[in-house]
Amino acid sequence: MVFHGFQQLGGPERITGSLILAVFTAVLGSLQFGYNLGVINAPQKIIERSYNETWMRRQTGVDHPRPIDQSVLTTLWSLSVAIFSVGGMVSSLLVGTLAEWLGRKKAMLVNNSLAMIGGILMGLSKYCQSYEMLILGRFVIGAYSGISSGLVPIYIGEISPTSLRGMLGTLHQLGIVSGILIAQIFGLDVILGTDELWPFLLAITVLPAILQAALLPLCPESPRFLYIMRNEESKAKICLRALTGQQDVTPSLSEMKDEKQRMDMERKVTVAQLFRSPMYRQPIFIAIMLQLSQQLSGINAVFYYSTSIFIGMGIKQPVYITIGVGIINTVFTVLSLFLVERMGRRALHLLGLAGMCLCAVVMTVSLALLDKLPWMSYVSTVGIFGFVAFFEVGPGPIPWFIVGELFSQGPRAAAVTVAGLTNWSSNFIVGMSFQYIVELCGPFVFLIFALLLLGFFTFTYFRVPETRGKTFDQIASAFRRNPSLLDHEFKQHGTELDYLDDDSSV
Ligand SMILES: *[C@@H]1O[C@H](CO)[C@@H](O)[C@H](O)[C@H]1NC(C)=O
Repeated sequence: MVFHGFQQLGGPERITGSLILAVFTAVLGSLQFGYNLGVINAPQKIIERSYNETWMRRQTGVDHPRPIDQSVLTTLWSLSVAIFSVGGMVSSLLVGTLAEWLGRKKAMLVNNSLAMIGGILMGLSKYCQSYEMLILGRFVIGAYSGISSGLVPIYIGEISPTSLRGMLGTLHQLGIVSGILIAQIFGLDVILGTDELWPFLLAITVLPAILQAALLPLCPESPRFLYIMRNEESKAKICLRALTGQQDVTPSLSEMKDEKQRMDMERKVTVAQLFRSPMYRQPIFIAIMLQLSQQLSGINAVFYYSTSIFIGMGIKQPVYITIGVGIINTVFTVLSLFLVERMGRRALHLLGLAGMCLCAVVMTVSLALLDKLPWMSYVSTVGIFGFVAFFEVGPGPIPWFIVGELFSQGPRAAAVTVAGLTNWSSNFIVGMSFQYIVELCGPFVFLIFALLLLGFFTFTYFRVPETRGKTFDQIASAFRRNPSLLDHEFKQHGTELDYLDDDSSV
């Protein structure tokens, strides 16, 4: 049987042109998400200057217009940064509905209209002398990003052949970090980071949106969506043939048939049921804590504000160090792609959290000593580089991975919604409050993150199971049989869910 199926597949699964096109097109969405995450970092001072000018110019008829208050400026800027995550928070609730209603492909296509609207609003805000337009544009592009960060992994996961699913799936994270890096490079004052050109820096996000909208009609719809959700077997076959490059798609189709049967048996679980049922309470708690560990680690404080942190350190060319951060970020994401299947999720997450915690302490100490010892600025730079590197090793990619793995088909959609909402809300809290906390506690701001990281490390150590190499069914049934998963089981069996293997034969 196995050999028969293997022969029909024609040996190892092939990467076809159609698959490459579809993955590339989808990842343009991740790229835009990253771009907008990183884009307001470098030009902070320039755009703040423009806010000040607008503020003064609006006081027409006044002989000596008063400049903007520092506190008002801080509020306006924090809002411009953080409203992005409010957009994401709102729209992440719609991902499931959109993906089911329009299908994966059309949902991505329609979503591009948000990118265009957001880009145009931000691009014209200076011309129209309105920081309100910029803030609204950030909200809209945040909404785009929330939908895109949900749809892209779903689409890529569904069109990829099983053996390539992990690798292709991580391209989403790689798209995000490349987007951040591109934004940082474009934000240089020799490129678009100037008083005249910054509107283009923000508006340029419409270009990948146009490219994606042009390419999407050429991409196949997800065969899994067509067959499992819509029951359209012939259309699913056409898309499968394009994606696999093979005429006979019976093996893939029969695999989907199995999945459909299993799904029909398992009822869909709502968000409320997720919290009420003792069966899901433990995994959803773990999923929420892991999302919090990603955002409250302070990583977005670095992605949003690193340039101003470096200015505070007295560094002359802060933007280049910010680009250094972007490069480290990308390199370590690639490294994590190779490590995640070898070392396991739990180990990498623990390693990442511990490393970040250590780097946060290094940053705190070096920033506090900066006045007395100027060379400490090198130490804090190393601290920030290490912080970002350790983030991408574990806390960056893994929380997304694990949410999908902790739940079976029935509750998965609800769990992803809860996780997305947690992620975007905590992202908002950090983006909004960071500047104020800096004003309050100066260099000791990273000590707060260090303490939080220590807490998340402890939680992960005692509560998070290893999911590598376990099927969805094995993980879910472990939680089902023992709702307070491994309160004691952990102590008996160490940290791996070893006993799960014995159940696979059941
Ligand atoms: C706003 O601009 C005025 C005039 O250029 C300047 O004096 C003032 O310091 C600026 N305010 C802030 C908060 O940057």
